[in-house]
Amino acid sequence: MTKVLVIYAHPETKTYSTTDKFYQQFITAYRTAHPEDEVIEHNVSEYMPFPLDKIAVAIYNKALVNQPLNPDEERFKASRQAWIDEFVAADKYVFVNPMYNLFVPTEMKSYLDMVMQIPDTFHYTKEGTMAGALAGKKAIHLQTSGGDYHGTAGGPDMSQLDLGHQYLQAVLHVMGITDFTGVYAEGMDHDPANAPDIMAKAFGRAEEAGRNF
Ligand SMILES: Cc1cc2nc3c(=O)[nH]c(=O)nc-3n(C[C@H](O)[C@H](O)[C@H](O)COP(=O)(O)O)c2cc1C
Repeated sequence: MTKVLVIYAHPETKTYSTTDKFYQQFITAYRTAHPEDEVIEHNVSEYMPFPLDKIAVAIYNKALVNQPLNPDEERFKASRQAWIDEFVAADKYVFVNPMYNLFVPTEMKSYLDMVMQIPDTFHYTKEGTMAGALAGKKAIHLQTSGGDYHGTAGGPDMSQLDLGHQYLQAVLHVMGITDFTGVYAEGMDHDPANAPDIMAKAFGRAEEAGRNF
């Protein structure tokens, strides 16, 4: 059975969320086209218990010098491993977020910190390059933003300012995932008069992407 892992980062309630409406178009179309697939959803803004904090960095540093972990570190590492295993076991990834200050929300960065793990998702070769462990998998990025970065609302190409999408692309590439695209709902805040039209078109793209992912 194909496993689809949705990494969703939004701290607001669904009532006010453009991102959620955009995502629902995608996932409803996906489920209709792939009724047999398993879809696992995590809102990492609500719950992400393994940030790159003091204990996580201690585990990282001790591994470098082969030092034993203390009991708290052992417990943290064992519980975190279930999340990493879930990530590795997925066949497809859906990253969903509003753009915050040209980037993904903090909690999505935290999630990526958690799954960037040697040897689970990548390792260094003898030559010092990074080799991914997840080749052949695919990922998609659904993002809403007030401004138009990819020209989908008729503006110029400002995609170099979409640092979140570029970062996701780089991280996934390190893990070996090169089949990665973005679908955007953007420009509504800068052009409120046209927001209904922008959203209708964006919903159409999300629906098409869901059918074909
Ligand atoms: C703290 C914060 C930072 C934001 N930063 C950006 C930004 O850098 N660029 C942009 O185009 N929109 C930015 N926005 C606007 C949101 O990305 C946009 O309104 C999005 O559609 C919100 O989704 P939501 O309705 O699901 O909350 C920001 C919004 C917030 C709350």
